[in-house]
Amino acid sequence: MFPSSLRRALFALSACMFLAAGAAQAEAPVQRLPNIVILATGGTIAGTGATSTTTVGYTAATVGVDNLIKAVPELAHVAHVRGEQVFQIASENMSNDNWLVLAKRVNALLARGDVDGIVITHGTDTLEETAYFLDLTVKSRKPVVVVGAMRPSTAMSADGPINLYNATLVAGSADAIGKGVLVTMNDQIQAAREVTKTNTSTLDTFKATELGMLGYIQGNKAYFYRQSTRKNTADTEFDVSQFDTLPQVDIVYGYANMGPLALDAFVAAGAKGIIHAGVGDGSLATRVVPSLKAARAKGTVIVRASRVGQGIVARNGEANDDQLDFVVADTLNAQKARILLMLALTKTSDTKEIQRMFYTY
Ligand code: SIN
Repeated sequence: MFPSSLRRALFALSACMFLAAGAAQAEAPVQRLPNIVILATGGTIAGTGATSTTTVGYTAATVGVDNLIKAVPELAHVAHVRGEQVFQIASENMSNDNWLVLAKRVNALLARGDVDGIVITHGTDTLEETAYFLDLTVKSRKPVVVVGAMRPSTAMSADGPINLYNATLVAGSADAIGKGVLVTMNDQIQAAREVTKTNTSTLDTFKATELGMLGYIQGNKAYFYRQSTRKNTADTEFDVSQFDTLPQVDIVYGYANMGPLALDAFVAAGAKGIIHAGVGDGSLATRVVPSLKAARAKGTVIVRASRVGQGIVARNGEANDDQLDFVVADTLNAQKARILLMLALTKTSDTKEIQRMFYTY
């Protein structure tokens, strides 16, 4: 028989252990599936072909969002999903107006407490542009993932279903919060600012060739290894609720024997900005310089980018940007430089300010 003091101590100890077990049970995190909205815009992921081996020459943007979701019942294991058909287009037809509609819809949805993340299905041809536009205009740290497919939904080994599943997984992942707008294709996670389409037709077309991808999706989990250092989403100064149109910015492409014809036409048509995708380090052909100077004198903002696709365009390198009052695109490709310049022009036409933005975003 234990003395009563020892019995009391044993009872107190077992009561403490019981309470501690109960508390641990109460504190165990309740696993709630995230609420993800899938905004469909068309593209090959919603495309159909004549046969299962039709991987080129198919029709993009024919399958509606409800059928895209129905085709992947596994989505229900990782999220509560619902779909909205925002557009049904091939992405070569994506427009500035479409972007404004999309960004405003994403902002409205993410402001709600019952939406944890957004997936946008999109054609791959301009996917990187839409992703970067959203990277600069979404006002939330909640995940936004843009996804497409290289094979239509009817193809043998279509990549759309797994890409949609992976995108939903990433959009519901706590690790994706605050990483900016993401692109997921081919089991990889990429930053909107850095990723580009590198191949006309292969599944591994989306790459951030030199700066690198952010991570992988494997075994039903998103793994992040790095993130872009450039400001994005909630930290940008661009506010799509303040405007309904974007200023005209066009791209002129550099090549041997280039003349000023296209540049002059864009300026005559009212371009407020020109992205000059020059050869090499954004070099300017002597025969184009007078037109560039004349455009600048009229108020058109000139941004020197490069057609090379990688690397920094050096300020005051191949041209005296200080003297010409030009801006350099840093590492942005021409199509993304166009987006940043359009948004910059909604705030200012001061080239020093615009240059700051190109080194910030
Ligand atoms: C498109 O961009 O809409 C067509 C091509 C694709 O989605 O891969």
